[in-house]
Amino acid sequence: MRSQVTKTVLWAFFSALFFALPSSAQTNITGLWDFQTPTGDGNVHHLYLDLKQDGQTVTGKVSFEPNRSVPISDGIVRNGALHFVVNFGRPPRTRRVTYDGTVKGDKITLTSRSVGRPEMNGVAMRANPSVLLPPARLPLPALHNVADNGLARTPPMGWNSWNKFAGKVNDQDVREMADAMVSSGMKAAGYVYINIDDTWEGPRDANGNITSNLKFPNMKALADYVHSKGLKIGIYSSPGPQTCAGYEGSYGHEQQDADTYAAWGFDYLKYDWCSAGEIYKNTEMQPVYQKMGDALLKTGRPIVFSLCQYGEDDVWTWGAKVGGNLWRTTDDIQDNWKAMSGIGFSQFDIAKYIRPGHWNDPDMLEIGNGGMTNEEYRTHMSLWSMLAAPLLAGNDLRTMSEGIKDILTNREVIAIDQDPDGTPVRRISDPESTAVVLERPLHGGSTAVGLFNKADHPQDVTVQWSDVGMSNKTLKVRDLWKHADVPASGASYTATVPAHGVVLLRVTPLH
Ligand code: GLA
Repeated sequence: MRSQVTKTVLWAFFSALFFALPSSAQTNITGLWDFQTPTGDGNVHHLYLDLKQDGQTVTGKVSFEPNRSVPISDGIVRNGALHFVVNFGRPPRTRRVTYDGTVKGDKITLTSRSVGRPEMNGVAMRANPSVLLPPARLPLPALHNVADNGLARTPPMGWNSWNKFAGKVNDQDVREMADAMVSSGMKAAGYVYINIDDTWEGPRDANGNITSNLKFPNMKALADYVHSKGLKIGIYSSPGPQTCAGYEGSYGHEQQDADTYAAWGFDYLKYDWCSAGEIYKNTEMQPVYQKMGDALLKTGRPIVFSLCQYGEDDVWTWGAKVGGNLWRTTDDIQDNWKAMSGIGFSQFDIAKYIRPGHWNDPDMLEIGNGGMTNEEYRTHMSLWSMLAAPLLAGNDLRTMSEGIKDILTNREVIAIDQDPDGTPVRRISDPESTAVVLERPLHGGSTAVGLFNKADHPQDVTVQWSDVGMSNKTLKVRDLWKHADVPASGASYTATVPAHGVVLLRVTPLH
């Protein structure tokens, strides 16, 4: 008991002494600091702290890349103990991160916490403000038409790591996904590409060659493995200095990186604008993408070129000219009805820009990721097929249910997506209606008709045969989700479609 009292008295004495010290006796931390933390995959994460100390109050901002900063709040430094808060992201999706550290001369030992848990531990050192300047702007090539690479005559089909794994994807996952692609029957149904999205990148070596990080020990061996399964493999980069997840981009290394991908044996590149926006204007996307289109052709290896710039600058009007086989038309999809249907049902006005070898890309599939019902996932698959969209599964193929597998491998629906003519979809229904009727003429005289219900309750959806050029004909009408022919006579066909559901038909005139 006595020792406890002694301790308390001593603590009070020393802390009184400590807090009595004038803060001016401490280092003034005004200036730029580079807070470095190892990412665990061999890279180092930099967060630049631009701080201003006024007495005990600290204001300023943090930046993880040039031109993108977030203000700090609640900043205080007292007797060498620094505390501040950063709210990343926009409401309501803000992430509050608190930072606590100790200042010792030109070094701040810092820990960040999010949702009460420690996130990053590291040391911040004083930095030269030039680190925050974007790299010097490279001259852009004059525009020309990049020769068609002859690939993707039908929309690419495969799998991509981002929707399910994001930054966690590694070599083993990719190998297992290739295995599952075969064992699940997806390969037999037409899926080919195993695409690694962002976060595979490591630093550049002394010669400027891009390396993979610790999650991917040997890219060539991985490509060989995927090829040994009869599949093809895809990779990801950005025309900017950094990718969207903050990894090394291809800026200033375009041809060198294309050559590396070809030497490793890659068959597909997704090229994501990201930090290129800090150097170029959106209206300069065409020459920037052309540079990589040329570089890929020059490798001599057939590499599908996937443009990802979220549909800016009317990419559908120039995507093919830069050698693009597909181009994203929207912002990122999410695994929920609102996001999926919002994207899927807003693509009709630009449908006319598709043709074999060159496709609109309304983003990858979320089927099987758990945020929608199987009814909604059938709508996702049907809608993407009516749009002739790339079918890039984004779920864990190793663990998918039979129901999800049935949706992804429905060959009759896939045949609509993969129709060799690549004829654009047409919306027949009123744009305001929640009953959406779509038509897509198919090779050989059949036509695909989608009866969609965007409403939250079941409703009847009707197609008039005269609207799809099928009046006064004897028709074979096949329901592609029931896998059965359905009786059809008269001038129209009506189906009662469940909420958020679809009835997808292949209509064939018999004579
Ligand atoms: C962007 C793209 C996504 C994904 C991530 C990776 O958000 O649109 O599809 O590639 O970057 O960082």
